[in-house]
Amino acid sequence: MSTEPYEGVVKVDFDNGVAWVTLNRPDKRNCMNPTLNRVMHDVLDDLEDDDRCGVLVLTGEGTSFSAGMDLKEYFRETEAKGHMATRRAQRDSYGWWRRLRWFEKPTIAMVNGWCFGGAFAPLFACDLAIAADEAQFGLSEINWGILPGGGATKVVEQLMNQRQAMYYILTGEMLGGQKAAELGLVNESVPLGDLRGRVRALADVLLAKNPVTVKAAKDAFKRVIDMTYDDAEDYLVVRQEAANHLDKTEGRKEGIRQFIDEKSYKPGLASYRR
Ligand code: ACO
Repeated sequence: MSTEPYEGVVKVDFDNGVAWVTLNRPDKRNCMNPTLNRVMHDVLDDLEDDDRCGVLVLTGEGTSFSAGMDLKEYFRETEAKGHMATRRAQRDSYGWWRRLRWFEKPTIAMVNGWCFGGAFAPLFACDLAIAADEAQFGLSEINWGILPGGGATKVVEQLMNQRQAMYYILTGEMLGGQKAAELGLVNESVPLGDLRGRVRALADVLLAKNPVTVKAAKDAFKRVIDMTYDDAEDYLVVRQEAANHLDKTEGRKEGIRQFIDEKSYKPGLASYRR
């Protein structure tokens, strides 16, 4: 086994509260092979428990965010080992995407280049996504004879309207960063030269918030998507009460105090001082 951290296929750099997680197979356009999918579990385990990570940014080295699944190693070579090997490979990939979706800290996908097929899953798993105008997205599965699996079909069902989703599923046509923002695949798109700065600024906004509240708010949103209105109402009361209990800083009371008693900030305009 390699002695390089994360076997060289993922890099993690820390910078003032942000953990920059970079898929690091640039010569293979950061396509996801079984090693990368296995290692990403360790990356997420480590970062969840590391105070240097207040926000996780997922990006790719070189010209690609990720060219999707590794057609050679993830599909052909794994399938040659039999059915159980395929199931194991799926567990590893689906598993780290699911863990990322419910990660303890806020997450941002920084889409710097190619983003195909299976890469829609980690893109979706991140709470927010900023793309470069120059990035290219595509459900290319149809081009090589499969349907968009590994959640990709579900991702576009959740994020796009039905006509748009079906169009990209059936044509495999690519869309650039600005179009991806227009259709809701990402929050916004900026020129590649501004991408890191924009993501850094967004991360700083998140870092200024109460982390217990941020985790509660993102989970609550993801959970209510499939709930009835009444179930959601009830769940949100209970989830807030759980957050009150978890927040040892009693941020909610402090936020009220600084506004009402101290008059040091206005919640409509900014966050309370932590
Ligand atoms: N699986 C396996 N190998 C890949 C993948 C992939 N998904 N993507 C790129 N590579 C490899 C290439 O085979 C090539 O390997 P080699 O140097 O050993 O020949 C290397 O990465 C570089 O790729 P190029 O095609 O030469 O790079 P280029 O910059 O010209 O094109 C592009 C980039 C457009 C991303 C192209 O590589 C491509 O179409 N990749 C496949 C994208 C795709 O459809 N992915 C699958 C989506 S479906 C799913 O994920 C289930």
